[in-house]
Amino acid sequence: MERAITGFHRDAEGDWVAELACGHGQHVRHRPPWTVRLWVTTEEGRASRLGALLECRRCGTIRPYANRDRTACLELLRSNVPEYFSPGEEAALDAFLERLPGPYFVVENDEGALWACGGIAVDPHDASVASLCWGIVRQDRHERGLGRALTQHRLRALPAGILRVRLDTSHKVQGFYEKLGFAVTEVQNDGIGPGLHRVRMELSLRPAPPP
Ligand SMILES: CC(C)(COP(=O)(O)OP(=O)(O)OC[C@H]1O[C@@H](n2cnc3c(N)ncnc32)[C@H](O)[C@@H]1OP(=O)(O)O)[C@@H](O)C(=O)NCCC(=O)NCCS
Ligand SMILES: [Zn+2]
Repeated sequence: MERAITGFHRDAEGDWVAELACGHGQHVRHRPPWTVRLWVTTEEGRASRLGALLECRRCGTIRPYANRDRTACLELLRSNVPEYFSPGEEAALDAFLERLPGPYFVVENDEGALWACGGIAVDPHDASVASLCWGIVRQDRHERGLGRALTQHRLRALPAGILRVRLDTSHKVQGFYEKLGFAVTEVQNDGIGPGLHRVRMELSLRPAPPP
């Protein structure tokens, strides 16, 4: 995950560590000739990097889904039952993973465990419409920016020509997608299960300017 630099400190050996917005630290050493980061040695150099993004592997890495991830993805769903999913939805995700309709991604942590998954699919009848499918963050990793980073990654992975992105979710998640620009198009009370309302949402994208 890309995280913003919020500050710097030195470790016990005197090497510089960038403090990231996620709370993790990352060495930004200046050790010529192997690692050259002259900027880190000056107050102005460090100040100029505040807010810059660094890849934090401890916050997870996004990569394409592979068949070996199937069980772990089902576990991600299960961790969110019954708050966000009804138990019956596991079989639907399993069938979806068996025949993926488009690119699917996972967030893997630095020990190889999965923290999140989510994909996209282009409407087979309308090449200007796509959907976000099965976006799930492991329950104990909610509210750490993983959902947003993965959703933005999926939106960037959409092919050219997509003008509308749809998704189907629950009322509990509606606010998350509203922050990303999606608007509600339909609500079905108890549509997913008792007390879990189905909410359809849509995001309009601007057509790319002509080259
Ligand atoms: C919905 C979900 C993907 C959000 O992922 P997350 O990693 O917890 O979200 P983030 O930390 O990236 O949050 C981004 C922003 O949305 C907000 N947010 C997160 N979950 C929210 C929710 N359920 N309702 C309203 N806002 C929410 C965060 O507070 C944050 O706000 P900020 O930008 O003001 O700080 C996650 O809760 C999840 O996997 N839920 C279960 C699965 C599910 O229902 N998926 C629906 C599609 S099938
Ligand atoms: Zn981190």
